[in-house]
Amino acid sequence: MLYSLLRPALFALEPETAHALSLTLLDAAHALRIDRLAFHPPAGRPVQAMGLTFPNPVGLAAGFDKNGAHVDALGSLGFGFIEVGTVTPRPQPGNPRPRLFRLPEAQAIINRMGFNNAGIDTALANLARARYRGVLGINIGKNFDTPLARAAEDYATCLRKAYPRADYVAINLSSPNTAGLRDLQAEEALDALLVELAAERERLSDAHGRRVPLAVKIAPDLDAPGIQAIARLLLKHGIDAVIATNTTVARPQLNGHPLAREAGGLSGAPLRPAATRVVRLLAATLAGALPIIAVGGILCGADAREKLQAGATLVQVYTGLVYRGPGLVAELLRATAAAP
Ligand code: FNR
Repeated sequence: MLYSLLRPALFALEPETAHALSLTLLDAAHALRIDRLAFHPPAGRPVQAMGLTFPNPVGLAAGFDKNGAHVDALGSLGFGFIEVGTVTPRPQPGNPRPRLFRLPEAQAIINRMGFNNAGIDTALANLARARYRGVLGINIGKNFDTPLARAAEDYATCLRKAYPRADYVAINLSSPNTAGLRDLQAEEALDALLVELAAERERLSDAHGRRVPLAVKIAPDLDAPGIQAIARLLLKHGIDAVIATNTTVARPQLNGHPLAREAGGLSGAPLRPAATRVVRLLAATLAGALPIIAVGGILCGADAREKLQAGATLVQVYTGLVYRGPGLVAELLRATAAAP
C-alpha cells in the first residue's frame, strides 16, 4: 500500500539511485521502528533444507544487498533467509554506468552491474555489526581481473572468510557480467572447481567444527544435457543445494522493447518460464537428493507456487520486490504456506 504511493517517485529516479534510496528509507524505517507497524508478514511454513531450519521458504536473492549492509531492515520484511553478495576477495567498482535498466512494461530489469562490491572484508564487517540472526547466505564470486584459470583461488579465499559467519555459502557461477564466469559451469571446469572447493570445505569443517552447506547458483541459459551434467557433479562433490537461476542473456518476450538490446542479464517476468524449466530439469535429475532454491520471475503468489510445484524447496526474489514492494513478501508467505 505504502509502496504503491512511493513507487512513482522511485521510478522517476535513475534506477541505481532509486535502489540506494529505497535501502536508505528501509534502514530509516527500521531505525525508527516504523517497519514493525508497516509490515506485518504472516508466519510462514518452516522448511528444513541443507541441514538448516528456514522459518519460511521465501528468501531475498543475491545482488539486492551486495555488501550485507542492510540485513537488519531487510530481515524485518519477513524473509525466511537473506543472501548477501555477490562479494569478491577485493573491492571492485563494477561496470561503468548506466548499468541498470527498468523495463516496467515487461516487469523486468536488465543489469550489467559487474559485481560492484566493497569486498568480502567490508561485507563481513557490516554483517558483524548487524543484529540479524535469521538464515544468512553469503554469495561469492571472483574479481573481474582474476584470470579464469585462477578463479578457484578467489572462491576459496571468499569461502574461508565467509565460513564463520555464513549459514550457507552460494558459489555464483552464473553472472553474465563477469567475462568467462559462466564457462565455469562447463563439465570439466566445474568438476575441477568443485574438487578444490569441496576439499577446502572439508578443511574448514574440521577447523571450525561446523559443516557449512554450499550451494551452486546456475544460469538459465543452459541446455538440458548441460543441466544434467551439473546436477551429477553437484552430487558427486557433496554440494548441498542448487540455486536456479541467475539472469538470462536471452531476450524472451520483450517484443522489440527499446531497452531490449542493452547488454546484461534480464530478470523478472520474462525470465520466469526459462528459470522454471531449469528447476524442472534439475528436479528430474536430482530426484529429491538436493534441495533446489528457485529464483527468476516470481512476481506474485502463483509464480512462487509454480516453482514449488516444479520441484523447488525454497524460493528467492529480486525483481518482484522492485515492482511489487515489500508487500510481495507477505503475499508469497501466504502462497507458500501449504506444502506443494
Ligand atoms: C542480480 N542478481 C545477482 N545474482 C547473484 O548471484 N549475484 C549478484 O551480485 C547479483 N546481482 C544482481 C543485480 C541486479 C540489479 C539484479 C536484477 C539481479 C540475480 C538475482 O539474484 C536473481 O537470480 C535474478 O534476478 C532472477 O530473479 P528475479 O529478479 O527475476 O526475481
